[in-house]
Amino acid sequence: MNLLVTGGAGFIGVNFVRFWRAAHPDDAITVLDALTYAGNRASLDGVTVDFIHGDIGDSVLVETLLAGRGIDTLVHFAAESHVDRSIHGPDAFIETNILGTHSLLKAARKVWLAGSGVAHRFHHVSTDEVYGSLGPDDPAFSETTPYAPNSPYSASKAASDHLVRAYHHTYGLSVTTSNCSNNYGPYQFPEKLIPLFLINALHGRPLPIYGDGMQIRDWLHVEDHCRGIAAVLAHGQVGETYNIGGGAELPNLTVIETLCAAVDGAFAADPALAGRFPEAPAARGAPTAGLKTTVTDRPGHDRRYAIDERRARDELGYAPQRSFAQGFAATLDWYLANESWWRSVLDGSYRDWVAANYATR
Ligand code: NAD
Ligand code: TYD
Repeated sequence: MNLLVTGGAGFIGVNFVRFWRAAHPDDAITVLDALTYAGNRASLDGVTVDFIHGDIGDSVLVETLLAGRGIDTLVHFAAESHVDRSIHGPDAFIETNILGTHSLLKAARKVWLAGSGVAHRFHHVSTDEVYGSLGPDDPAFSETTPYAPNSPYSASKAASDHLVRAYHHTYGLSVTTSNCSNNYGPYQFPEKLIPLFLINALHGRPLPIYGDGMQIRDWLHVEDHCRGIAAVLAHGQVGETYNIGGGAELPNLTVIETLCAAVDGAFAADPALAGRFPEAPAARGAPTAGLKTTVTDRPGHDRRYAIDERRARDELGYAPQRSFAQGFAATLDWYLANESWWRSVLDGSYRDWVAANYATR
C-alpha cells in the first residue's frame, strides 16, 4: 500500500505508523501532521516515513500529496482529541474535526474520483463517544446504536463520521470508519487519565478524580487498536463502520487503584526509582493511593461506555490480545523507561499553547 497517515505524530497515529512499518517494511508511508501541542515529531524517530508538517485543512497540500505520491490509502487520525479541552475551547474541535475532515474528503474526492480513478480507501478513525452515555444495564454500543454525542469533542467527531458516510453514499468515495473505546499505551500525551496520573504519581502531585470516580470506560491497548484498524483495511466492507473495543470495561476507580498499586510495586522492585523520582510517595515507602483527590466532576460527564464487539469479531476476525493487566503493566514500564519522551512533550511549547488557547481556564 501507499499510505497517507494524518495525525501520525500523535498518540495513536505514532503507534499505528510503527505497527504498520514493522508489518509492511516495503510500503510507502507519508505522515501529515500539524504538530499541535499533541503532536511530536520525535515520537517517529527511527521509523522510515516521509514526514510533512502541514494541516489537514490545507486542501491544496493534501491534493498534491494524494496525486503526486500516488497515495491509495488514507488513514485519518488527525483531530483535537481531549474532552476537557473541548469543554473549555470548542472552536478548535469544530475547525479540525469537522472542517478539517471535510477538507480531506473534498481533496480525496477530487483526486481519487474526479482524477485518477484508482482503487482507494479513506479510513476514518472515530470514537465510541459519538453514541453518548450508557446506563448500568444498557446493552453495549453496536454499530447501529443511534448517535447521541454529549461533549463538543464527541459532537465534532459525530459530525465528521456523518460527513465520511455522506461522501460514500453521495459521491461513491470508498470509506470505512472505526469507532473505538479509550486507548492507552506508549506515546500518549499526559493529559489523558492514565499517563496524567502516572506522571503525577511520580511527582507526588494529586490524582484528580472527577466526581465519584465510578464512570466506566472500555480500555483498549493501542496496539490492539492498530490491529483492529489493519483488520478493517484488509477485510472491512466499504461504506461500513466497525466498533473496536478492548474487552476491559472498568470503573475509573479500579483503573486508578491498579495504577497506584503498580507504581508502589515498581518502586519496591527497583530501588533506583526512588532516586529518580524522590517526590513520589512510593520513594519513601508511602502508598501512591494517598495522592487520590476528589475534584468537581467534568460538566456533562458520560457515565459509561461499552463496546459490543460482535461485528468486528465475526466479520474481521478481530479480538483484543492484551488484558488490561498486561497492557497496563507494559505501559507503566514504557513510561518509566521513556522519561525523556514525556519530559520533552511537557516542555515550553505545550505551556505556550495552553496559555494562548486556554487563557481563561
Ligand atoms: P492526539 O491528540 O494524541 O493526536 C492528534 C494528532 O493530530 C496530533 O499529532 C496533532 O498534531 C494532529 N493534528 C491536530 N490537528 C491537526 C490538523 N489540523 N492537521 C494535521 N494534524 C493535526 O490524538 P489520539 O489520541 O492519537 O487520537 C487519534 C484519533 O483517534 C482521533 O481522531 C481521536 O478522535 C480518535 N480516538 C482516540 C481515542 C483515545 O483514547 N485516544 C479514542 C477513540 C478515538
Ligand atoms: P480521559 O482520559 O480524558 O478520556 P475520555 O474522557 O475520552 O473518556 O478520561 C477517562 C476517564 O477518566 C473519564 O471518565 C474522565 C476521568 N478523568 C478523571 O477522573 N480525572 C482526570 O484528571 C482525567 C483527565 C480524566
